[in-house]
Amino acid sequence: MTNPPNSNPTSGVTGLPGTQPPQAANLPGAQPPQAADPSSTQSLQDTSQSDTQPSQATNLPGTQPPQAADSAGQFPMRLQKYLARAGVASRRGSENLMTAGQVTVNGQVVKELGYKITPGIDQVRVNDVLVHPADLPTYLMLHKPAGYLTTMDDPQGRPTVRQLIPFEQKPGLFPVGRLDNDTTGLLLFMTDGELAHRLLHPRRHVPKRYRVIADGQLQQEQLDQLRQGIVLNDGITLPAIIELGAVSRKPLTAREKIRLNVDKTFSPWQTELYCTITEGRKRQVKRMFSAIGHPVIELSRIAFGPLELADLLQGSWRNLSDSEVQQLKDAVD
Ligand code: URA
Repeated sequence: MTNPPNSNPTSGVTGLPGTQPPQAANLPGAQPPQAADPSSTQSLQDTSQSDTQPSQATNLPGTQPPQAADSAGQFPMRLQKYLARAGVASRRGSENLMTAGQVTVNGQVVKELGYKITPGIDQVRVNDVLVHPADLPTYLMLHKPAGYLTTMDDPQGRPTVRQLIPFEQKPGLFPVGRLDNDTTGLLLFMTDGELAHRLLHPRRHVPKRYRVIADGQLQQEQLDQLRQGIVLNDGITLPAIIELGAVSRKPLTAREKIRLNVDKTFSPWQTELYCTITEGRKRQVKRMFSAIGHPVIELSRIAFGPLELADLLQGSWRNLSDSEVQQLKDAVD
């Protein structure tokens, strides 16, 4: 698996208690959040543009001064791209609309094809009809920490991943699949229901790669079992890729040190493994390892399809680049 090309996607630290102050881009709360209907499926735009020059339209009188990115991490993007993303026309068709003088930005006709706007700030109209940034799909990845439920709403008020992403700015975002409360790692969010459906469809077999710390030392036979398929209560698992990492001593509590002396079944060892599965059954990795007598101690998803978590900090999110979105689409075509 290779590192996805990264065209300067934006990122943000999402205000975890005890973490560093958030970075400039994607600061939740840097501007008052928009009134958001949580049930709404509308979204703001993909802000993964590599353009870094300040928007020209934001310099117009009465608008905000130029800035690198707004509170939702919205970077300037080419006007024709914005129009195409919003579904107004193809990229070429959007260029034609511009050169024909049918597109205005903050009330002024813009014909220049290199013109950049900041979605959500600049008012773009085609033949006097406002093009909403909400029409643009959004895709992001979160490095989920432990202790957050993969749900957008918990009636019991426990911490959820919703608190970690810019949901107020992009109210249509939903998680693609789920990670257990104590599982960390790559969790995708998007407003594109069709792509999410494809990525999660059991017949698509999108690979998910996990770093596993399992209790004890695994025998060759057990590695083979994991690779070939494990019988679980909901059926046998599909073949998995299992790579063996380091075997190390477990950090033991005082109580475990005592147990080590009296309990012959207690192992002081733990094993790191990399496990790639192409299904998405509930608690699948944990159940596979428990079934061979080596329960999971730690679990982190490090790749989803063609995308890797890489060095995204725990608790942070970033927008996917155009190329990454395309790679996801290609993976389920
Ligand atoms: N498998 C699990 O057991 N848990 C997860 O969170 C993801 C995959």
